[in-house]
Amino acid sequence: MTAPRTPQLPSRLPHVGTTIFSVMSALAAECGAVNLGQGFPDFDCDPALLDRVNDAMREGLNQYPPMAGVPALRQAVAAKIAALYGRAYDPEREITVTAGATQAILTAVLACVHPGDEVVVLEPCYDSYAPNIELAGGTVVRVPLTPGTFRPDFARIAAAIGPRTRAIIVNTPHNPAAVVWTRAEMLRLAEILAPTEVLLIADEVYEHMVFDGAEHVSASAIPELAARAFVVSSFGKTFHVTGWKVGTVAAPAALTAEFRKVHQFNVFTVNTPMQHALARYLADPAPYLGLAAFYQRKRDLFRAGLAASRLKLLPCEGSYFQSVDYSAVSDLSEAEFCRWLTREVGVAAIPISAFYDGGFEQRIARLCFAKRDDTLERALERLARL
Ligand SMILES: Cc1ncc(COP(=O)(O)O)c(C=O)c1O
Repeated sequence: MTAPRTPQLPSRLPHVGTTIFSVMSALAAECGAVNLGQGFPDFDCDPALLDRVNDAMREGLNQYPPMAGVPALRQAVAAKIAALYGRAYDPEREITVTAGATQAILTAVLACVHPGDEVVVLEPCYDSYAPNIELAGGTVVRVPLTPGTFRPDFARIAAAIGPRTRAIIVNTPHNPAAVVWTRAEMLRLAEILAPTEVLLIADEVYEHMVFDGAEHVSASAIPELAARAFVVSSFGKTFHVTGWKVGTVAAPAALTAEFRKVHQFNVFTVNTPMQHALARYLADPAPYLGLAAFYQRKRDLFRAGLAASRLKLLPCEGSYFQSVDYSAVSDLSEAEFCRWLTREVGVAAIPISAFYDGGFEQRIARLCFAKRDDTLERALERLARL
């Protein structure tokens, strides 16, 4: 007998390493820095939501739910979408509960992308999109958002769409750029997609964080888009419970049927008591309707504090991210600047270059303001020195 040996494994994702979010969080912990890097709240959710989870567990709602999700939650989500965005999804055939938006996006990609298909992503973009497409055997077609404003460049989007394009992934409100697509922009997208067979994966996890009275224009609100869209939401973002990993996908029945084929042999079902709790909690719209004002106040507090520094504030229309142009402070690359900021200033941030393949450099860093006021004030004391 030879010694036990682990077989060689050629990587399915040879270019993927540890994500920048984990790297910066570890560095923040090591340096005792205020962690404004990774996007998660440092405050707790509404205790009433926790009570509802506890109630569901004590009521014995602890076994497998239906594959597509607890019916009461799917009904609550369909009612919410109908009330806010005006489209009536059938909860039986068109709403699926997922293990967060991350699984929803992967499942949508696996369900629709065939080997050799192209999928358009708009850079900078969330880091899971490209590996998801590669896992499905697809080709990632990267189109930059307009440098400086991060608004969609429709000429480039239209030019990127061809006979092999299976889907486009759009994220509004946007992480990391905090841009919210206008109705005119969503309609322009609809116009470009109308003559094609291209599907839309609409990542709308920050749908309830839109500021200054602007509206979130969901793909579900534009019939031409909704007819071809997987619309992805996340309760983690909306109810300050990112660790719960519960989200939903709304899509026309034919698309949902394909989505569920992948879902049932991937996660199969999502944890039951959380779903019941969320269904009951959604009966009151106040928590999600009040989220924009809640985060707008934090955004304003944070921006007012940063105004004292030489960091230049980019617009923040939505999401819980504030990007800053640090070119008046440093010539370092974005990754080096974020490491320096964490070690020397004591505030962790994320380089925007991490959201681009090949690391496009713009001297911009992303800070997360989903933090307690005292955390933001501690960070501001340090950042005001810049
Ligand atoms: C744009 C975007 N999409 C998807 C996700 C993942 O959401 P979830 O935690 O529900 O998987 C995030 C989380 O940061 C995100 O920023």
